[in-house]
Amino acid sequence: MFKTTGIAALVALSLSTGGALAAGGEGHIEDVAFSFEGPFGKFDQNQLQRGLKVYTQVCAACHGLQYVPLRTLGDEGGPQLPQDQVFAYSEQFEVFDPELDDFRPATPTDHFPAVTSASAPDLSLMAKKRAGFHGPYGTGLSQLFNGMGGAEYIYSLMVGYHEAPECAPEDFTGTYNAAFTAGGYPDECKDEDGHHTVPGSWIAMGQPLWGDDVEYDDGTVATLEQQAEDVAAFLMWTAEPKMMARKHAGLTGVIFLTILSVLLYLTNKRIWAPIKGKKTS
Ligand code: HEC
Repeated sequence: MFKTTGIAALVALSLSTGGALAAGGEGHIEDVAFSFEGPFGKFDQNQLQRGLKVYTQVCAACHGLQYVPLRTLGDEGGPQLPQDQVFAYSEQFEVFDPELDDFRPATPTDHFPAVTSASAPDLSLMAKKRAGFHGPYGTGLSQLFNGMGGAEYIYSLMVGYHEAPECAPEDFTGTYNAAFTAGGYPDECKDEDGHHTVPGSWIAMGQPLWGDDVEYDDGTVATLEQQAEDVAAFLMWTAEPKMMARKHAGLTGVIFLTILSVLLYLTNKRIWAPIKGKKTS
C-alpha cells in the first residue's frame, strides 16, 4: 500500500518538474537558475544593482514602478545602495509636489514615477502577476518546486523576440514574441480547431534589449541574456522585496513545528504509558 502510494507520488513529482516547462501555457518559457530560488535562495545584490541599471536606462523610458519607494533601494536584501547613492539616484526623477504646486526632484521618501507612456503597464508587481510555470492541471506541485516563474517569464519575454513565423501575413501588426501570450494572433497561424500552431503572440512592445544596451560597473559583460536575467531578477525584487524574510520565516516555522511534533509525540507516549503499558494477564 505504502509502496504504491510512494511510487505514484514519485511519478507525479517527476511529471510535474519535468513537464512543467513544456506545459508553460502557449508561450515558450525558458528556465533560469536564479539565485533566489529554493528555500535558501537569496537575491544577488550585484545582480539587483545591474538590473536597476537596465531598468533605469532602458525600461524606465516607458514603464513606471509606482509602487516601489525609492528608499528601499538602500534596504538590506535589496540592491542595498549606500545612502548617498539612494539620494543621488532619486534626484534624477521629477515628482509633482501638491504643496509646492510644482515639480521638484524626487527624494528617497518618494516612489519611482508612475507609467510615463500610455500603453506600457507598470512593472512594480509584474513578476508576481505573470506566471511562467503552470503545473499540470493545477496540482500546484510544479509551482512548489519551480516557483511561479514570474522572473523566468520576464527573461523569456526579453529574449523571445524572433522573426515572425511563416504562417503570419506580413502586415500583421506588432512584433512576434515567443513568450508573450496576451497579444494578437493571426488566423493564418491557427489549425482547423482554432489551436495555435506557434507559441507566443504578437506584442506592442518593440524589442527593448539587444545586448550592450548598458555598461555594467562591475565588469560583467552586458549580453542580451545577461541583461535580461538581471532586469528579471530586479523586477522580482520590486514585486517581492521581502522574499528572503518570507522564506526565512517559513523555514523557521517548519523547523519549529517539527521539533514541536516530536515533543508532543513523546509527551503523548509518556502520558499514556501507565495505561497502555499495563499487562492484562
Ligand atoms: C518603447 C517603450 C517600451 C520600452 C523601452 C520597454 N517597454 Fe515593456 N512594454 C511596452 C508596451 C507598449 C507594452 C505593452 C505590450 C502589449 O501589451 O502588447 C509593454 C509590456 C511589457 C511587459 C508586460 C508583458 C505582458 O505579459 O503583458 C513587460 C514584462 C515589459 N514590457 C518589460 C519591459 C522591460 C523589462 C523593459 C526594459 C528592458 C521594457 N519593457 C522596455 C513598452 C516598452
